[in-house]
Amino acid sequence: MKLYFWRNCCCDPPLPAGQCGLCKNCRVTQTSETPQTKTKKLQLPPLRLGKHTVETPVILAPMAGVTNKAFRRLCREYGGGLYVTEMVTARSLVERRPESLRIIEHDDDEKIRSIQIYGVDAVNVGKAVRMVVEEDRADHIDLNFGCPVPKVTKLGGGSALPWKTDLFTAIVQNAVKEAARNDIPVTVKMRKGIDDNHLTFLDSAKIARDAGVAAIALHGRTMEQHYSGQADWDAIADLREAIPDVPVLGNGDIFSAEDAIAMVEQTGIDGVVVGRGCQGRPWLFGDLQNAFEGSEARFKPGVSEVADMIYRHAELLVETFGDELKGLREIRKHVAWYFHGYPVGGQLRQKMATVPDLATFREYLSELDHSIGYPGEAVEGPRGRAGNPKKPHLPNGWLDSRILGDAERLGLVDAELDVSGG
Ligand SMILES: Cc1cc2nc3c(=O)[nH]c(=O)nc-3n(C[C@H](O)[C@H](O)[C@H](O)COP(=O)(O)O)c2cc1C
Repeated sequence: MKLYFWRNCCCDPPLPAGQCGLCKNCRVTQTSETPQTKTKKLQLPPLRLGKHTVETPVILAPMAGVTNKAFRRLCREYGGGLYVTEMVTARSLVERRPESLRIIEHDDDEKIRSIQIYGVDAVNVGKAVRMVVEEDRADHIDLNFGCPVPKVTKLGGGSALPWKTDLFTAIVQNAVKEAARNDIPVTVKMRKGIDDNHLTFLDSAKIARDAGVAAIALHGRTMEQHYSGQADWDAIADLREAIPDVPVLGNGDIFSAEDAIAMVEQTGIDGVVVGRGCQGRPWLFGDLQNAFEGSEARFKPGVSEVADMIYRHAELLVETFGDELKGLREIRKHVAWYFHGYPVGGQLRQKMATVPDLATFREYLSELDHSIGYPGEAVEGPRGRAGNPKKPHLPNGWLDSRILGDAERLGLVDAELDVSGG
């Protein structure tokens, strides 16, 4: 058995995995039996986002209900990158809703405090950005234009919005202008468009570049696709080619370090944005770090290590929400993701999915067969949301013009309510 050093071991110099016992991080070991051979190193320089440098060009995709402080901490402990909050609406920030202010909080050791804002009104987005900047609440702001949820798009919000070029331009310009007060970089994240006949990404990217954004992230799917089918990496390559002067970030279907390498090689992008692939697998960021350093070592945790990780995740959620029951409610959805592909019985999974407190969770986790090692392929590949394409839901006549009409502007008022991600 080879000994590996755990990246975040608190000792100086770091001790081999499993030998420290002082820091919780050391409980997670790289169990790969293969030596850490050097493989082809990706020739990808650090990602420049305005005044910031992200050494490892990897971004944790904003995911509503997932990428809170607790989950970001687990991911950050494995590797470098940029770790974005869940999305908040501009309106809720301006109204100073406590839940939104909680969402944009960061741990003290989050070096680049990155947040994502979603808004449908340029004035409100400007106000929200100004508030964040004046109160020093973030170092980077991403704008979300990718939400495919019908109840939002049918009002003209989410991924319907970039179709209206005047509105899109005004929102991005206002955000960039307000953020410039403290030299805070703004990025945009979007989908390819509404459907294959109504693509917007190239136009939107040019508008965003001209407005002064620091990077453009593209999820290679249309609104119509939701999470179905395969992300179109060719579109990401097209964007990279069309906008040579701004960093382009590729998003969609990165479920392993090898996928990230493939996307970089196929598209020439400047960084990868990883969403569903890390659900229940924060160690994916360790694999990505290794891949970007040219190492073939990959994390292959057995049941015991997964159990430790999920318990720690629950503890951190309790800390984040300051409430044991709320924290445990939050961990429930993660249970299925963590044990995806592991031979864990249905009854035990069900019990864990309704676990009421940490002590009971610990008890349930001890009932697992801790001798089970990494199951291999069953754990790998696509995970999380998938489903089928959905007919785009848009306001009447939305596609008739790329300029926002007065009636459409009125309809947009409620397009920030009940938004739950992209
Ligand atoms: C549960 C969930 C929540 C999401 N929430 C957001 C969000 O708040 N903001 C956003 O821009 N995208 C959101 N997304 C989309 C992801 O950021 C990402 O674009 C998408 O999952 C595609 O990347 P992937 O194939 O790596 O998962 C969400 C996706 C999921 C699965």
